[in-house]
Amino acid sequence: QTGTFTYDPGFTSTASCESGLTYIDGDEGVLLHRGYPIGQLAEQSSFMEVAYLMLNGELPGQDELAKFNTTITRHTMLHEQLATFYRGFRRDAHPMAVMCGVAGALSAFYHDSTDITDPKQRMIASHRLIAKMPTIAAMAYKYSVGQPFLYPDNRLSYTGNFLRMTFGVPAEEYVVNPVVEKALDRIFILHADHEQNASTSTVRLAGSSGANPFACIAAGIACLWGPAHGGANEAALNMLHEIGRPERIPEFIARAKDKNDPFRLMGFGHRVYKNYDPRATVMQKTVREVFKELNVSDPVFDVALQLEEMALKDDYFVEKKLFPNVDFYSGVILSAIGFPTTMFTALFALARTVGWVAQWNEMISDPEQKIGRPRQLYTGPTQRDYVPVDKR
Ligand code: SDX
Repeated sequence: QTGTFTYDPGFTSTASCESGLTYIDGDEGVLLHRGYPIGQLAEQSSFMEVAYLMLNGELPGQDELAKFNTTITRHTMLHEQLATFYRGFRRDAHPMAVMCGVAGALSAFYHDSTDITDPKQRMIASHRLIAKMPTIAAMAYKYSVGQPFLYPDNRLSYTGNFLRMTFGVPAEEYVVNPVVEKALDRIFILHADHEQNASTSTVRLAGSSGANPFACIAAGIACLWGPAHGGANEAALNMLHEIGRPERIPEFIARAKDKNDPFRLMGFGHRVYKNYDPRATVMQKTVREVFKELNVSDPVFDVALQLEEMALKDDYFVEKKLFPNVDFYSGVILSAIGFPTTMFTALFALARTVGWVAQWNEMISDPEQKIGRPRQLYTGPTQRDYVPVDKR
């Protein structure tokens, strides 16, 4: 039934925080954003509408959405000096290294939105971060391929603008493919937020010290980069290419089950989902739709489908409740759209910025919030006296 989750005062928990943004039921494979199922948002909403929902708690009316879109659009440009910042990187720098650096540097340029005690400045910083991430990511890609940066075009949608800044060139007009635009916008929705995952917890912990929002998001980008987290989409596609053909799947499933082999099936398993990740379901459906619309096929998708089928019939994966997660299919579709694997996690960071800023705002606007201080169980030596080096 509709309503708001509440807990009786006697309820005790080891939870790190209270949040009303995202609800996950890992056993049932349920994911809600402000109460709305991810499947309905992916099918019927837009990434900008979901961004508004996460920041404000309710779906916007048409005027509210139009105003929000205009606000975000007006923040898409980067300070011109930041383009110089890019030129300090090697051309072969990983886009996530560039995004980490540039996101952190934003606090050196947008001082008028770093006072976290001012709700107005908090919202301006949030809008700036959501608006500028596509520009930052697209410029990281352009720099890596030695092509000129393209300025944002305010006539395009949020996702259309990102596609043009990434794949357009000054020499010719770039026409946004509506099928690709809709698929990528849906992929952004699927990555927008996911409760207290490692990178969101990093953003919250950094924010709890009073650090400025740009520095907090840079910390989140750093954490997301790891292959156990957001880096899994790049690792999953590399793994599918390494498998290469269906006949080699049993070899890789055997390796994933071998405790002496550190290899894990990338894009499989999850800390919370012990059922199908609902985002993977939508992602697989989107791959099929885009491949059909673009009349493309990719043997790697067939390998992914057969790997999923074989793994889900294997006792090891069934007993340990290991299912495909959001990262298993995302690389297949991003590759079909034209992104190199090194850009996959950058796109995850672009989309997750909505969740990070929404979670940061929720935390920082709580007058009761205190600096985070995770506890430890001490396992070191008991107290002992110092021994001078000539006596050791
Ligand atoms: C994301 O937290 C979030 O919400 C993250 C995320 C988000 O939106 O923010 O959903 C995004 O990070 C998704 C996960 C992407 N990572 C990968 O796909 C990397 C491959 N997956 C794993 O490394 C692993 O599944 C983790 C890191 C995701 C979870 O690791 P855990 O916590 O160890 O998983 P678990 O406790 O459920 O594991 C149970 C068992 C373990 O074996 P035993 O210790 O019981 O013998 O299953 C094994 C694990 O070793 N296992 C795997 C496996 N994942 C877990 N074995 C083989 N292949 C795998 N992929």
